[in-house]
Amino acid sequence: MAELLRTEGLRKYYGVVSAAADINLSFQEGVLTSIIGPNGAGKTTFIHLLTGHVRPDRGRILFQGEDITRLPTHARVQKGISRSFQVGDIFPRLSVGGKPADSSGGPIGDRDEFPEAHGGRP
Ligand SMILES: Nc1ncnc2c1ncn2[C@@H]1O[C@H](COP(=O)(O)OP(=O)(O)OP(=O)(O)O)[C@@H](O)[C@H]1O
Ligand SMILES: [Mg+2]
Repeated sequence: MAELLRTEGLRKYYGVVSAAADINLSFQEGVLTSIIGPNGAGKTTFIHLLTGHVRPDRGRILFQGEDITRLPTHARVQKGISRSFQVGDIFPRLSVGGKPADSSGGPIGDRDEFPEAHGGRP
């Protein structure tokens, strides 16, 4: 089974708060993997690190063997890395299908139809 995603020594501090401490994980292609832990354990921070929403203080992220640690979010999306959001009502008027499309960088409707998805007010 091929390794799809790997983290090496991934670390993120918010001030003095350690949100991710030397995370070394390997995710295999074709395997559904869950991250579980108590509130504040660092799950969302870890997802943010994988997607590029948050930059690590240390460590590397490898996707299909390529170092993507410094890639911007949109470049990771183009490689097939997408996410959904913990708070699902950011765009309350988006359809069920529109929200994952948004989080994967896909089409989410035009500016007039969904101004909140384009940085404007509804
Ligand atoms: N933007 C931020 N600024 C400062 N501290 C943060 C920030 N984001 C997260 N933290 C802190 O980092 C730690 C990990 O938070 P994170 O949200 O990643 O945990 P979580 O496992 O997703 O929690 P939950 O189960 O509540 O969603 C917590 O102590 C949190 O308070
Ligand atoms: Mg969370």
